[in-house]
Amino acid sequence: MQKIKISPSLLACDFLHLEDEVRRAEEAGADMLHCDVMDGVYVPNISFGFDIISKIGRITRLPLDVHMMTVCPEKYLEVLKEAGAYYVTVHSDYSDGETVRNTVRRIKELGMKAGISLKPARPAADIFDMAEMADMILVMTVEPGFGGQKFMADMMPKVREIREFISSRGLRCDIQVDGGIGTSTISEAAEAGANVFVVGTGAFRADDMKEAVKTLRNTAKKASGSMMGGKNKIK
Ligand code: DX5
Ligand code: ZN
Repeated sequence: MQKIKISPSLLACDFLHLEDEVRRAEEAGADMLHCDVMDGVYVPNISFGFDIISKIGRITRLPLDVHMMTVCPEKYLEVLKEAGAYYVTVHSDYSDGETVRNTVRRIKELGMKAGISLKPARPAADIFDMAEMADMILVMTVEPGFGGQKFMADMMPKVREIREFISSRGLRCDIQVDGGIGTSTISEAAEAGANVFVVGTGAFRADDMKEAVKTLRNTAKKASGSMMGGKNKIK
């Protein structure tokens, strides 16, 4: 069974107190820190960039999980490496397949972990010829661009399809879900085969973040355990 990991999304944090918020995530038991980079072109919103990520990298030992929602992520890979990114995830449709594959290859050459993300409209098949190179497949469970949106349960068949694809080929790829994850939605996603959970609002805006992360982790563990005997068994 692949390890359950919780990746709090800084998009939902209080940016006036960024360092305290990073500490809060550490103390809550986060496995990594999700950093959403948005350029206002690939998605209709702008978030934060590499200077901020680099500053975060300097004050934390948590792996930085960078989600690139930009048109030319390949331009920034060296800068991301320098900033201390651990995962760099790019979207399957930001360019043609060949370009996306080259970007994934370059991320790996630079010694970072590569993720490929699917927007709600993109099918599982987008990643079939790249899954072997990827460390993580991200299935978006909201339209990328904003935090605090409603979880799209209709993405679960896609998560299942990808988990089956990965298992049938003996790949050891993480499946991440991002958007609307909270205590009431995480079990559905874990049951479908996801094992890495991005949580923005559900973590940073919870009354008690530590308690929230603990509940999320336990709920996901239980749900993924319940599929152990099923055909979607997580390896
Ligand atoms: C949305 C971002 C998410 C966002 C999730 O485009 O990719 O990472 O922060 O936020 P919640 O958990 O609030 O849906
Ligand atoms: Zn994200």
